Amino acid sequence: AVVPFAGARAQDYPNRPITMVVPFAAGGPTDTVARLVAESMSRTLGQQVIVENVGGAGGTRGAGQVAKATPDGYTVLLHHIGQATSATLYRKLPYNVLTDFETVGLVTDVPMTMIGKSTLEPKTAAELIAYVKDKKDAVIYGNAGVGSASHLCGMLFMSALGTQVTTVPYQGTGPAMNDLVGGQIDLMCDQTTNTTGQIKAGKVKAFAVTTKDRVKSLPDLPTFQEVGLPGFEVAVWHGMYAPKGTPKAEIDKLNAALKAALQDPKVIARFADLGTEPVSQERATPQVHKEFLAAEVAKWKPVIEQAGVFAD
Ligand code: MLT
Repeated sequence: AVVPFAGARAQDYPNRPITMVVPFAAGGPTDTVARLVAESMSRTLGQQVIVENVGGAGGTRGAGQVAKATPDGYTVLLHHIGQATSATLYRKLPYNVLTDFETVGLVTDVPMTMIGKSTLEPKTAAELIAYVKDKKDAVIYGNAGVGSASHLCGMLFMSALGTQVTTVPYQGTGPAMNDLVGGQIDLMCDQTTNTTGQIKAGKVKAFAVTTKDRVKSLPDLPTFQEVGLPGFEVAVWHGMYAPKGTPKAEIDKLNAALKAALQDPKVIARFADLGTEPVSQERATPQVHKEFLAAEVAKWKPVIEQAGVFAD
């Protein structure tokens, strides 16, 4: 067969739909970010970018699927801070976070909110802290598995309080939110992309945000720093990846479409409603993403080791 030379292949790339793997269930915050970006990239690339939800093991099942996919530019991964934390949390990962992927670019930073079922007794963050210290493992905390952002936030919260609660893992915080609204679980720390609507609709109680500064779309929520938990800071960053070996020409085309999506007025407006904004064009390059990922792996390694929380 005549193998087209790299230039020819890249010129007509993409000539069929691209799969964007989201390593959590549909309806969650990662899925929300992915679908907004995928829809915009489909227009730029002239081919469908189809989101495929592959949940499980705190996002590592979906990431592992992409690490092993053909490096032809037709499979990408949209993942978040969990790509960095899972490098330490999972001591037997079937892939290497830093060497089995090409970075395509950073996407957005999303604040997290600590929220409770509407019937939970405490009303303020200070009351919640006292309540959790008193009730301990009678408190049921929902997350998306070890390696998820909701897991990381819960781990930091428990370390800050010196208290262990009972954790229920879901395939994503979309399904977990259903149980929180239904009152089956008590507490969850999740991204504003998933919680803003429920908070504003009064379906859940909101206690605090995990960012250094207050969140513009939730101005009444104090930061955890304000309520006396210094250093408890988690902003969930999202990035796009391709399997190692995906040619530079394809990576550059994907990156150009990603950067266009981050300047798409529809994406910007929707992100703003959800308490977030796209990263700057300067931050949305493969190289900046590669360096940032390595720095995040190094940043979270001692924190996780100190908390002594591992998945395997
Ligand atoms: C997480 O907790 O990592 C995410 O919120 C999971 C999800 O996007 O469903």
